[in-house]
Amino acid sequence: MRLSLSVSSSLFSPFALVHIIVLVSILSLPLAQSSTLENDDDGDLIDQICQKTPFFDLCSSTLHSNPLSPKTDLKGLALIMVNNILANATDTLNYIEQLIKQTSDQQMEQALAFCAESYIPVVKFILPQAADAISQGRFGFASYCIADAEKEIAACDKKFSGGAQPPLSDRNDIVQKLVDVASALIKLLLKG
Ligand SMILES: *[C@@H]1O[C@H](CO)[C@@H](O)[C@H](O)[C@H]1NC(C)=O
Repeated sequence: MRLSLSVSSSLFSPFALVHIIVLVSILSLPLAQSSTLENDDDGDLIDQICQKTPFFDLCSSTLHSNPLSPKTDLKGLALIMVNNILANATDTLNYIEQLIKQTSDQQMEQALAFCAESYIPVVKFILPQAADAISQGRFGFASYCIADAEKEIAACDKKFSGGAQPPLSDRNDIVQKLVDVASALIKLLLKG
């Protein structure tokens, strides 16, 4: 209740203060009742959950950017995260395919083709399976899928470890961090 705090420090009349407190409580009452996470703790529940993941800022900004997040629970947030990774990884796969068409360096082309082969199963099978598993409450299998996605992307990333300007490191890095966040969310679900 930032409103009542800031107003009460500027207005010393106790009478006005009581009015403001009553008004604020009345205004916030229907909001608090209308949904799971949109109460006093509001975005805080998302942030509390994100604090239990290795990349708080990325977790918080990703979940807050989805309008469905405040209305859902931990399972819903994990699902939103996995679908976000799917969108991000799909975009990266398209980018890899573009780079393959553009490059004339044979070694680069081979490394990129290797990465396409890493990303294709992630996008087409592994992440959709992880999302299904979360929906169905099969969190153990979801966790296995996420670990698999992690391996695929790490394998792609290694292909460029010698190069001066690895073309995918920023994108791989984001996807890997998002996957780490999803993994932490699923571990929370596994703990019940
Ligand atoms: C992938 O995630 C990063 C970090 O959140 C974001 O900046 C980028 O726009 C995302 N790309 C897509 C296609 O979702």
